Amino acid sequence: MPHMQRREFDIVLFGATGFTGELVARYLATRGPEDLRFAIAGRSREKLREVRERLAALRPELASLEMITASVERPESLRAMAERARVIITTVGPYVRYGEPVVRAALEAGADYVDITGEPEFVDRVIRTYDARAREAKIRIVNCCGFDSIPHDLGAYFTVKQLPSDRPITVEAFVRFQGQISGGTWHSAIGAFSELRRTREASKPPAPTTGRKVSLVERPLRRGPYGTEWALLMPTIDPQVVLRSAAALEDYGPDFRYGHYLHVRTTTKLLAVTAGVGAAVALAQFGPTRRAILKWKVPGEGPSEEERAKGAFEVTFVGEAEGGPKVETRFAGGDPGYTETAKMLAESALCLARDAEKLPPRYGVLTPAAAMGDALLERLTAAGLVIERVS
Ligand SMILES: NC(=O)c1ccc[n+]([C@@H]2O[C@H](COP(=O)([O-])OP(=O)(O)OC[C@H]3O[C@@H](n4cnc5c(N)ncnc54)[C@H](OP(=O)(O)O)[C@@H]3O)[C@@H](O)[C@H]2O)c1
Repeated sequence: MPHMQRREFDIVLFGATGFTGELVARYLATRGPEDLRFAIAGRSREKLREVRERLAALRPELASLEMITASVERPESLRAMAERARVIITTVGPYVRYGEPVVRAALEAGADYVDITGEPEFVDRVIRTYDARAREAKIRIVNCCGFDSIPHDLGAYFTVKQLPSDRPITVEAFVRFQGQISGGTWHSAIGAFSELRRTREASKPPAPTTGRKVSLVERPLRRGPYGTEWALLMPTIDPQVVLRSAAALEDYGPDFRYGHYLHVRTTTKLLAVTAGVGAAVALAQFGPTRRAILKWKVPGEGPSEEERAKGAFEVTFVGEAEGGPKVETRFAGGDPGYTETAKMLAESALCLARDAEKLPPRYGVLTPAAAMGDALLERLTAAGLVIERVS
């Protein structure tokens, strides 16, 4: 948009003092283009100064990096921050608690917006409240630009592109990952578990806008793609995001079905995962037990560099057009929750800020695939994520 060309910064990163926020700042500092104009923002000037010092140790010229003080409790500070940016990144979560004022500020200031929420209730609220206004203002509000839900959304998008689009298509995704979680993620997840009814309500498939029927493959448990392992239905936000893309974009066939599974190699692991998640959901239902388990992980903390180096993920997609053909693709990378999430989020913001001529003329509250599609696939591949057709 012409008015956005004149912004002081390409990107302002709100939440730079948090665990994931600082990883995003480091990514922009070390992997962003030389001439990138970015600023870090947060509620504590002291903490921002500490982050800036650590960034300057990586690149000395960042000793003068602009710091913007803004807080969710002061909407005028968010608005002033957003007015200086082409794109706002926010890593301030839980989003259901802190997210909405940032979306509103971006929209009112005419800045594009990306986040890494995985909270269905928040995304549902953002769509209902801001989609029409964002379309009208020609702003892109793109939630879920982390491990939730870029590998699944862009992976399904890549998979349907390998298939004929004039026949019904089914895509099933089998997700494997290992890695530890941060305090911020733990608090957001327990918050979502404690509001299970609202989370479920918010996860319903979207109404299609293209006349295409989109639906979920609802098999709670089945064998994995290679026949011997297990695939357990994973009720995360990802299926909702994939179906929103399918409802909005070409290439997904006249009828599109999507299945989303955790891919588990052994029965013992299957039982351990089911028991672990079941226990966390049960304990999140009651105030005293919820408060007790929230203390297990402290906001601001997360896995160390060595722990992150051991993390990895792989999503196998099996896509089939009615009557054939059938294809297998994969989307894989390192530590899903933080190293790769920081990369995916930063590349999404760079894509919105720098790839204007490659982006589809689509506005409103969008999925990553609908907002950035091929331009983002190209960036993520160049950044080292593996997105390929296997057969
Ligand atoms: N989807 C994914 O794949 C994915 C992956 C990773 C994280 N996440 C999500 O990202 C979010 C952040 O996670 P994290 O581990 O980085 O959390 P964190 O370390 O606790 O960081 C939270 C950030 O929010 C800031 N903040 C909190 N309240 C604020 C307020 N009122 N005004 C301004 N800033 C405020 C904190 O500032 P202070 O430093 O001043 O406290 C901090 O910068 C969580 O919701 C998590 O679930 C999602």
